[in-house]
Amino acid sequence: MAKQEDVFKTIIAHAKEYGFVFQSSEIYDGLSAVYDYGQNGVELKNNIKRYWWEAMTMLHDNIVGIDSAIFMHPTIWKASGHVDAFNDPLIDNKDSKKRYRADVLIEDEIAKFDEKINKEVAKAAKRFGESFDEAMFRQTNPRVLEHQRKRDELHTRFSEAMNANDLADLKQIILDYEIVDPISGTRNWTDVRQFNLMFKTEMGSTADGAMDVYLRPETAQGIFVNYLNVQKTGRMRLPFGIAQIGKAFRNEIVARQFIFRMREFEQMEMQFFVRPGEELKWFDFWRQTRLSWHKNLGLGDTKYRFHDHEKLAHYANAATDIEFEMPFGFKEVEGIHSRTNFDLSQHEKFSGKKIQYFDPELNESYVPYVIETSIGVDRMFLSVFCSCYEDQDLGNGDHRAVLHFPAPIAPVKCAVLPLVKKDGLPEKAREIQHRLRFDFTCQYDEKDSIGKRYRRQDAIGTPYCITIDHQTLEDGTVTLRERDSMEQKRLSVDEVEKILSEKVSLNSLLKQLVVK
Ligand code: GAP
Repeated sequence: MAKQEDVFKTIIAHAKEYGFVFQSSEIYDGLSAVYDYGQNGVELKNNIKRYWWEAMTMLHDNIVGIDSAIFMHPTIWKASGHVDAFNDPLIDNKDSKKRYRADVLIEDEIAKFDEKINKEVAKAAKRFGESFDEAMFRQTNPRVLEHQRKRDELHTRFSEAMNANDLADLKQIILDYEIVDPISGTRNWTDVRQFNLMFKTEMGSTADGAMDVYLRPETAQGIFVNYLNVQKTGRMRLPFGIAQIGKAFRNEIVARQFIFRMREFEQMEMQFFVRPGEELKWFDFWRQTRLSWHKNLGLGDTKYRFHDHEKLAHYANAATDIEFEMPFGFKEVEGIHSRTNFDLSQHEKFSGKKIQYFDPELNESYVPYVIETSIGVDRMFLSVFCSCYEDQDLGNGDHRAVLHFPAPIAPVKCAVLPLVKKDGLPEKAREIQHRLRFDFTCQYDEKDSIGKRYRRQDAIGTPYCITIDHQTLEDGTVTLRERDSMEQKRLSVDEVEKILSEKVSLNSLLKQLVVK
């Protein structure tokens, strides 16, 4: 098994063991691709959401927030294109009775060619040592060239079938390349069918004439259909944005990689309405602004990359993803799209209401263009969690599991620990905790040795531990232990409070964002 897979398994186990993420309905054997956030997970998640919300709505005069309902009029999903086109091509294996995404099966096959090429390169690099010229090897080695030729052939055929929506050819590719079901090992496949990812339910009793409604697959449409309400009641002038955080639901066929692909998840979306013709300028602005927001967390600049889309949706004129290096490779965390005036125009058409902006400078009305920034809360959580986790070797056979969360988003900001459970130390510790808890998420712990308690706080990523000992009773000073360096300093409670205010407040993170 690859080492990274082991690391990911350890991280998932840690997330469960320390109250961050639980499988949903676990005592009933779980519900696939649905997860619950535990006592520490919910704090981390809320802090991530606050960081996004405040960066959007407090640092931009022209961005306001809304909270629209999950249920919306079903025609909205017809107008947005989700009823007709929010599909994945699925295929079933008749022996294992398992369902797969046909495109994912083929993409996995393409990845096998890449693996073969990489293996050849790695072998040669070992053989030739320092004199190895990788570029030259890739261009000339007959085996590499043959793998590359087969890969490109498959890739071209696959892209053509996907673009043409040719389901019969997708099946034929699976048969021609002898792709087997990973479980049954057989090639006993059904035809490929389109599968709509929206969850459908009914609203109202049947006697009244029930109406089919959908659980929203994105929060964005709640913003589009409220464009007029917000623009008029907020007297907003272009350019302006509407931000929203909320649940979204997709009946994903292939749900894997823990909370990376879920059936119920949360999005943080912002639609920025601009004058037609200015959208690409704003697209560049948001591309950079969003990357700065990510990098500001200090998880490591090299962990991010843009993936610009070559093939654009028919309504988009620019699109990029911000990808983060997860333990299973670079993966999309956020999408930034220039969506033209597609959505608002569609809603104009389907609702029959005029959705336009009167531009006083141009003295004309038009349907605004839109730049969308859309980030998954759960994927953001996963990227923070994975990159902050460390099984740290402390020498002499000692090690600790530590989460190096950026202090302002850590679930618990400080722990107050009496050195021993007697001599009035617990009472003094409680007094200090009660003073700090108005400003900081603060835990009190008196069980086990102080070393064990430090480890417990490291494992949930608490940036500071405050230890109360006998000297505290004499002169009021405490020991402040910092999580990453494990350094300890003797300070007064006033000094501790000052350090905490500087280091763990969300404001410090937001201020850095403006300075950068
Ligand atoms: N309104 C645009 C939109 O929804 P998307 O690329 O489909 O675009 C945006 O989704 C973000 O939502 C993704 O970048 C990802 O972070 C998150 N996301 C999408 N599907 C998800 C899923 N099944 N589980 C978890 N997060 C998901």
